[in-house]
Amino acid sequence: RFYSFDLVREYPHDPEAFTQGLLYAGNDTLFESTGLYHQSSVRKVDLQTGKVLDQHQMDGHMFGEGLTLLDDRLFQVTWLKNDGFIYDRHNFSKRESFTHKMRDGWGLATDGKILFGSDGTSKLYQLDPISLEGILS
Ligand SMILES: *[C@@H]1O[C@H](CO)[C@@H](O)[C@H](O)[C@H]1NC(C)=O
Ligand SMILES: *[C@@H]1O[C@H](CO)[C@@H](O)[C@H](O)[C@H]1NC(C)=O
Repeated sequence: RFYSFDLVREYPHDPEAFTQGLLYAGNDTLFESTGLYHQSSVRKVDLQTGKVLDQHQMDGHMFGEGLTLLDDRLFQVTWLKNDGFIYDRHNFSKRESFTHKMRDGWGLATDGKILFGSDGTSKLYQLDPISLEGILS
């Protein structure tokens, strides 16, 4: 099945950002995960202006990938590693790390209850947002 799209509006965005994860959190607010070693970050971005309102610069050996928001927690996975991070959406300094069993960290999404992860293969994983363990379905 083929889908098409309509371009309804355009917004400014940091052209230097190597965008890997992006989500809309309501109230003209985007959260973004950027990649590349020594340049990876988690950002809160104003949709209308593209202005970065808050940013956490990741360790240089981390390459940011997928990002998703569940309640007040942002979950992020990293490329070629089993390490991920959880940030408080209101304060990126409140940060925890976790490990997952996916082969690699690529995409992350949520339905508001559980997390869905992809690892660059054709597999999709269901992850419990508390234990970060895989859910068998
Ligand atoms: C929406 O964003 C504005 C500007 O950052 C902020 O002042 C306001 O409190 C926010 N509203 C909600 C419901 O989060
Ligand atoms: C953010 O969290 C850190 C770590 O818990 C804390 O030290 C800091 O005061 C917090 N900042 C704000 C603005 O709440």
